[in-house]
Amino acid sequence: MAVDFDLDSALDTYAKGELFDPYPLYETLRLREEPFWSENLGMWLIHGFTDVEEGLSDPRLQNDRILGYERSLTPENRIKFKALNEHLSHWLGFEDPPVHTQSRGYLKEFISGRLAIRMKPVIQQQVQEILAKAQSHDEIDLITDFAYPLPLKIICDLLGIESGREEEFKALADAIGVYPGNVGPILNEVAPAAAEALVKMEAFFDGMVEQRLAEPKDDLITRLGQLSADGLLSHQEMVSLLTFVFLAGFGTTLNLIANGMMLLFTHPEEKKALIAQPELIGSAVEEFLRYESPIQIVARLVREDFEWHGKQLKAGDYVGLIAGAANRDEKIFPDADRFDITREPNRHIAFGRAAHFCLGAPLARVEAQMAISEFFKKFPKAEMISPEPDWLPIISFRHLGTLKVRLNHEN
Ligand code: HEM
Repeated sequence: MAVDFDLDSALDTYAKGELFDPYPLYETLRLREEPFWSENLGMWLIHGFTDVEEGLSDPRLQNDRILGYERSLTPENRIKFKALNEHLSHWLGFEDPPVHTQSRGYLKEFISGRLAIRMKPVIQQQVQEILAKAQSHDEIDLITDFAYPLPLKIICDLLGIESGREEEFKALADAIGVYPGNVGPILNEVAPAAAEALVKMEAFFDGMVEQRLAEPKDDLITRLGQLSADGLLSHQEMVSLLTFVFLAGFGTTLNLIANGMMLLFTHPEEKKALIAQPELIGSAVEEFLRYESPIQIVARLVREDFEWHGKQLKAGDYVGLIAGAANRDEKIFPDADRFDITREPNRHIAFGRAAHFCLGAPLARVEAQMAISEFFKKFPKAEMISPEPDWLPIISFRHLGTLKVRLNHEN
């Protein structure tokens, strides 16, 4: 670590989402005490593995962060965008027990390890279709041509979005997602478009739910629609959960596939080892999750004043649990900055922990394993032509903008 590392300037760049290599910052923070208060971000940063793990199960840190959104809106907008905040308050990631336990139970009946096994043939078919399309090109962008279409199709299948309406649905979910994706006064600017998309989303689901109640299918719209018809979920809760599952499962899986491919291209020895021993794909995907965690920061709000490692946390303070830093903690992962697809053990924290542990982890793992294995089976000589990773300026996610590769077909 360079002695003259400028922490303030790094934090400033980080807060803008423009610190494309955040790992030296994480390492510098690790040498400091934590929690570390960042004025730029307006939040406590937690970065050591043990503390992030503890924070994820500490009941003094709550998922309900609506207060933070409400206080950023002007009094007039607070009234105007009440429905938007209410919608958000029913997202599973914003709920706490006992409501969270119940909603999670409803989703868990459907999104399970069994679902991942059941979806394997659908995933396999999708991967083959996508690769067959790629076959007719010499060069492709792995983001738009590979890492994007697979999870979009799979998550829409799981939800029960009619074929051909995936992009329409995604556009609405993305427009709503911009609101929770921001913090501070800018929320006043992004709220109108999100609120408009929410109205359209409600209408989008109304028709589909009605149809599914008449003709049930094995999908989440049918399942939650029935719970709503039985009075166990309000209509608003149903729409919120459906929107949330899409936003929780789409971009994250896209990033896992894209980041994994990029890591293999930039570590040719590891790529060679995986091609020679395809059975390494399981541990390779765990290493992609650890090394470039798709979700870098998991947010919480302090429920009550308390002292943590000598720092006074106040009710209402934001806390950022940095999974991306925890996953590079030398105390847990020897030679943590080394990318090693055979790493064992690898108890990374990329899917969170405890009560909010990712419900879609088995599905994401299966998708990434099948997609990447099949890609290299078909194109073992493919090489990256993007000069370097093209990270997008987003602080919470590790998201590549483009990833150009030359396929170098063998036939
Ligand atoms: C590589 C892909 C994925 C990553 C890295 C990821 C990561 C995470 C993390 C870190 C959390 C915990 C958030 C917290 O503690 O507040 C979470 C929660 C969640 N994830 Fe995932 N996820 C992925 C894919 C998926 C997929 C494919 C689905 C749906 C099929 C999904 C559904 C969920 C749900 C419903 C929750 C909320 C659980 C709760 O609050 O009880 N995720 N995910």
